Amino acid sequence: MVKGGRPLTGKVAVSGAKNAVLPIIAASVLAGGQVQIDDVPNLTDVETICQVISSLGASVSREGNQILVNPTGIDAYEAPHELVSQMRASVVVMGALLARMGRAKISHPGGCAIGTRPINWHLKGLEALGAEVKINHGYLEATTSGLVGARIYLDFPSVGATENIMMAASMAKGVTVIENAAQEPEVVDLANFLNEMGGKVRGAGTNIIKIEGVSSLGGATHSIIPDRIEAGSFLVAAALTAGDVLVENVIVDHLKPVIAKLREAGAEVSEEETGLRVRGSSSLSAIDVKTQVHPGFPTDLQAPLMALTTVAQGTSIITETVFENRFMHVDELKRMGARIRIEGRAAIVEGVRTLTGAPVKATDLRAGAALILAGLVAEGETEIDNIYHIDRGYESIVEKLQSIGADISRR
Ligand code: UD1
Repeated sequence: MVKGGRPLTGKVAVSGAKNAVLPIIAASVLAGGQVQIDDVPNLTDVETICQVISSLGASVSREGNQILVNPTGIDAYEAPHELVSQMRASVVVMGALLARMGRAKISHPGGCAIGTRPINWHLKGLEALGAEVKINHGYLEATTSGLVGARIYLDFPSVGATENIMMAASMAKGVTVIENAAQEPEVVDLANFLNEMGGKVRGAGTNIIKIEGVSSLGGATHSIIPDRIEAGSFLVAAALTAGDVLVENVIVDHLKPVIAKLREAGAEVSEEETGLRVRGSSSLSAIDVKTQVHPGFPTDLQAPLMALTTVAQGTSIITETVFENRFMHVDELKRMGARIRIEGRAAIVEGVRTLTGAPVKATDLRAGAALILAGLVAEGETEIDNIYHIDRGYESIVEKLQSIGADISRR
């Protein structure tokens, strides 16, 4: 339940990145000894990936924001349907498992609320490294008699495909080159982790990644990068509520596209010693945004930013180019009085003077975040249903927003 109308003020710290920690926990399957991962956010998606690797035989323990993984007991190669169906990102365990066991069996993740989300490029990459992939009774089964490095061109710089290939290639024989690789910061964090275990990954963060396979990897200690999507969500919240918030634990470089858009909308964003300070305005102006792969504007912040445009003066055009069906939040925002129409891949948002609280439903993680943001400026109460989606990716969101003055509670 969110009651709108309060400007957010104070300081809030960002947690470790969900999209970095998931592949890193999957990659710990490759380790030859104990792995320590710090700054791990407390999220249901993190629990799920931990259950996936535990079900394979790894021992996983957690204390606060630290996770210890010992993968030496892994003796299974199957990621069960109950877990993969809870979180499609479980598919990133495939490359590591294939490299470690010579075999991986994963429930086919299927589509999800934001699109069909095929994994053809993951499979194409693993096949190029020498895997044979079959689909049987809803499961994907990959086998290999030995992975061998290859040159792989991705038709699109898919984050998950780049990560899966990087993990498998780390222990393949010879050199792998991924062309048109994803350049997201989370890919770089995974490369750093693989290198800390003794891997030889070069070029992560550019569109060509070169991986020299090694015969074994060791243990490692790694700290997860801050979550740029959580950070961006708080920046938007501060701007939208005409607040004044210092968002701490951020890597400014990762937030450039969102900073640029907030400034364009009329918010003041300044770099301080410990983070980014945003001062909003009660008269924000319309902006046009197009989602793109990194370093473009991230698709995961499309819905949160749309919440801001619903009350910005003028007409904003938000174009989604990464996923084909990522406008599920539009109908819910409209229930709160937003004026939005969809034309193909674009949402045309005409700013209204004020939103009104309403019962709404989170259809996916970022759509849910957008509804919280809209609720923060809506007149009256907004009750958000299906908040389990939000808990998949925002650590202590209710408590963090309360600490900067939001009137929000969980039932
Ligand atoms: C990751 C992020 C997600 C983010 C997305 C784009 C994680 C756990 N999730 O998802 O939060 O929104 O990057 O930044 O890190 N595609 C194919 N075939 C494939 C793979 C992808 O057609 O084999 C398509 C997808 O349907 C989508 C686009 O490519 O339209 C981008 O997907 P991708 O970059 O792979 O996203 P994910 O890794 O699934």
